[in-house]
Amino acid sequence: MKRVPSNPSSLLRPSVRALHGYTPGEQPKVRGLVKLNTNENPYPPAPAVLRAIRKATDGRLRLYPNPTSQALRGKLASVHGCAPENVFVGNGSDEVLAYLVRAFVEPLAAVPERERSRATVQYPWPAYSLYPVLAGIHGARAHPVALGADFGLPPVAALRRGKQWDFDAALTFVTTPNAPSGRGYTTAELEALCVAQRGAVVLDEAYAEFADEDARALAFRHPNTIVTRTFSKAYSLCAQRVGYCLAHPEVIAALDKLRDSYNVNLLGQVAALATLENPAYYRKNFARIRATREQLRRELSGLGWQVLPSQANFLLARPPGAPAREWLDWLREKRFLVRWFSAPEISAYLRITVGSEREAAALLRAVRRGPRA
Ligand SMILES: Cc1ncc(COP(=O)(O)O)c(C=O)c1O
Repeated sequence: MKRVPSNPSSLLRPSVRALHGYTPGEQPKVRGLVKLNTNENPYPPAPAVLRAIRKATDGRLRLYPNPTSQALRGKLASVHGCAPENVFVGNGSDEVLAYLVRAFVEPLAAVPERERSRATVQYPWPAYSLYPVLAGIHGARAHPVALGADFGLPPVAALRRGKQWDFDAALTFVTTPNAPSGRGYTTAELEALCVAQRGAVVLDEAYAEFADEDARALAFRHPNTIVTRTFSKAYSLCAQRVGYCLAHPEVIAALDKLRDSYNVNLLGQVAALATLENPAYYRKNFARIRATREQLRRELSGLGWQVLPSQANFLLARPPGAPAREWLDWLREKRFLVRWFSAPEISAYLRITVGSEREAAALLRAVRRGPRA
């Protein structure tokens, strides 16, 4: 009789054994750090949202939540001027992105070589670093294509000339505004891409509320286009894990077939619904964060940092005088957490979340000293 091996990893699928999981930014266990590393919102949810969560925290927690997030879908539909059938809600937008891969992309093993576009997850790079992980989990091909040097989206004609871009890719993710650069894209350039693309296009608008322009209208104009959003960043609800997408009803129906039965927890649904009922509070926060972003950008630039324009709640900035990695460690010693990525296109930069006015001022005071001062 064959014995079960003592090392269970040999039982795993080889593709899972080889997988590199997503690396999240540090969630510190010590207090007193200024946390500018994961693009969280520096301001709390609206008081009415916290009240709604408290009010829902009672004996009803023993019951399953509404399986389709019905009330929240209805409210999102009225906010976005569409039908509830155009809306899908997930456990964070990460979950929605994962379902979209499952819905549109074949695993590589399921298609002949000449049809590998059907197993391709494509994305202009640099982008949200979860995309290659999602492709890997699904056994699909991750296909990054370099953005322009200024993180601009190459026009469709240039993509055709470049030959690397796959217009038949089963699914193309575009982070817009781009992360980690903060670069914004116009609806017109995104639309040109959606029209040219024969597969699905996912516009990941996790940071859209901080931008001058958003492209949600494309989800209603082009049946291959899906727009994803989150309550994490602009709406201060990272902990509750609620995201959603807008798309053609047939796409939404497919996602509903794939999802876990009760994929969005009760308190998440309650919190997101209450959030949408308090838009004035959040509009003020967006304006405040944008103002702090511009001020931080001006002041860092004045100190010799090369700071890219940003349409998001973070800045990508190249520090002067020492490598970014050295600045990262030095700032950590001074109790500031920021993010550094080893990818060669961005390893000279730090990504700094725009915190409160106070946090930005404290960061600037520290930065004036610098690691080699
Ligand atoms: C571009 C982008 N998309 C999606 C997400 C996921 O957000 P969540 O799962 O919290 O909704 C993030 C989080 O950092 C992000 O940066």
